[in-house]
Amino acid sequence: MTTTRNRVEVMHGANLDMLAKRDPGHYGGGSLTELEGKISRWAQDAGLNAFFFQTNHEGEFIEHLHRVPETADALIVNAGSWTHYSWAIRDALELAAVPAVEVHLSDVMSREEWRHFSVFDGLVLDAISGKGAVGYKEALELIAEKLGA
Ligand code: DQA
Repeated sequence: MTTTRNRVEVMHGANLDMLAKRDPGHYGGGSLTELEGKISRWAQDAGLNAFFFQTNHEGEFIEHLHRVPETADALIVNAGSWTHYSWAIRDALELAAVPAVEVHLSDVMSREEWRHFSVFDGLVLDAISGKGAVGYKEALELIAEKLGA
């Protein structure tokens, strides 16, 4: 039996449901639903199937990561501010043990110093930031290459 490994779980953390209301200078002004629509289309183009999850609750984010080995072949993670301090989410990502790419819409390295650090360092295939929605397209392309989709 051959199985196609093409399922990508796209996980958004705290405050990313409010994207349309956040500083358009950093986040582009579009909504999360619009962003997910773009990601879906780019995923199809790359031979992948994208699934989406967003929560403002750290425990829910962690429990969703616990289910990933059964539901997805790869991950795109934009954990919002949890990126910069949640060791619990790092541990859960490590447990998920699937190829993962970290994405940030804004250019975290040119913002406040506390945003420069990521708990995912060393765990992810790549960390893409400051490219807006296109960062997710690049992440999908990296994942397609990794999965051979
Ligand atoms: C973000 C960057 C984080 O520093 C911030 O806390 C977010 C969004 C981004 O997509 O640029 O909530 O992850």
